[in-house]
Order: sequence, then C-alpha cells, then structure tokens
Amino acid sequence: MRKIVIAGNWKMHKTKQEAEQFIDEVKQLKTNERVEAVICAPFPYLSSLVNKVKQTDVKIAAQTMHFEQSGAFTGEVSPVMLADIGVSHVIIGHSERREYYHETNETVNKKVHAAFSHHLTPIVCVGETLAQREANDTLTHIEKQIKIALDGLTDEQIANTIIAYEPIWAIGTGKTASSADANEVCAHIRNIVAKITSEQTAEKVVIQYGGSVKPENIDELLSTSDIDGALVGGASLEPASFIQLVEAGNKLS
Ligand code: PGA
Repeated sequence: MRKIVIAGNWKMHKTKQEAEQFIDEVKQLKTNERVEAVICAPFPYLSSLVNKVKQTDVKIAAQTMHFEQSGAFTGEVSPVMLADIGVSHVIIGHSERREYYHETNETVNKKVHAAFSHHLTPIVCVGETLAQREANDTLTHIEKQIKIALDGLTDEQIANTIIAYEPIWAIGTGKTASSADANEVCAHIRNIVAKITSEQTAEKVVIQYGGSVKPENIDELLSTSDIDGALVGGASLEPASFIQLVEAGNKLS
C-alpha cells in the first residue's frame, strides 16, 4: 500500500513565534506507519522548526530551492544548505514559482536531480490553468510537465518522487476539482509514469492533489484510487485543521 502524505504549504505566512506555536500545537500528532505529515515552512524558520519536531511524527520541508550546490546566486538557498539543517522534503515547481519566478519544466528537472543528490524528497507540482482545462489541454499539458520533470531519473528515484497535481484554477480560490476529476488526472499521471518506467514503479509513486483542500473535502479525495495525499495551502495554517487533515489519512490506514 502506498503512503499517504499530507503536506501543509504555508507559503509566505506566519511570524517565527506563530510558526513555533503551530508546531508546539501539532507535535503531539501521531501518524501511523502509512501516513506522513509535512510542514513546508518559510526559509528563516526551517532550522528552528526542524529542531522542534525531533522525536515527533512531523517533518519539515522547504518551499523551493536552487539546483546548484553553491555559487554566486544572491538570495538563493541550495540543496546542500537544506540537507545540512535536516530538512526532509522540498516543494519543486509550485505554480506560483512557475508564474512569478520563471521556473520552467527544465529548471524543475534540474532541481529534482539536485534534491535526490542531497537526500531530499522532492514534491513536484504540476497542473493546468483554467484556459488549458477549457481547451481540453489538461492531459497533454500535464504529460509534458511530468516527462520533463522526471527526465534522467532512475526508477528508484521516480518511485521516491512525490507528485502534486494542483490545478491552478483551484489554488486559493475555494474551488476544488471534483474528486472524480482530480482522480482522473492523478490516474493519468500514474499511467505516464508507468510508460516512462514500469507499472511496478508507477504503483509506488505518491500522487497528491492540491487546490482548496480542507477538512470538509479530504475524506472524499482520499477515498479515490489514485490520490495519495494532499498539498494544502490555506487550510494548513491553523493547527486544528492541519490535524484534521492528517487524521483523515490516519483513519484510512
Ligand atoms: P490552497 O493552496 O490549499 O490554499 O488552495 C494549495 C497550494 O498552493 O499548494
């Protein structure tokens, strides 16, 4: 059985005190073997939060990184730095990074390779715009994103990649894709991965849905065949709702 990964993406929210208080409130959370609870926090808090979650079931992730190990890249953070402070996961190619910071499928691919070189688990985001959905381009668009993102990885690395399907029109809008639509795309993603590698490898890949996930819709999303968790923005900012999302995963195992 695949893992269920519930990841909270805080984006550019919270003061240090608020971040630490959140972790204090969720650190009693117990996940069973199949479930992972991850908080993707802003860079300045990562080190202190990693220390706070030691001996707990919560993991700390970064929201992006550079693909180079070091160099003259003012303002950037490298995979070496994240690994050094004990971060476990990193979001790569979130649609906001693609839209506002010119990330491309090619830089996403470089970052995924860099993540594996430093033992970080990549959470690779893909998803279509509303215009692409309306033009029936969703599946071809996603196929291109996935093929380039995973290019050159070993089967083992692909099996350990988390893919987050996040339709851009559903992010932060309160509009969730129906669980059937979301599952259809997630199943399509698994087929693409199977074509690149093998069915056996594709069966191991954790595919999350993201876009206005909240305690009210998580059960239905997780009840589908190919959705193995969620990448959650707004509803991950409050400890109580993050706990409810993780408990929805615990219930299934
Ligand atoms: P949302 O964000 O849950 O607030 O829609 C999801 C995301 O951007 O990862």
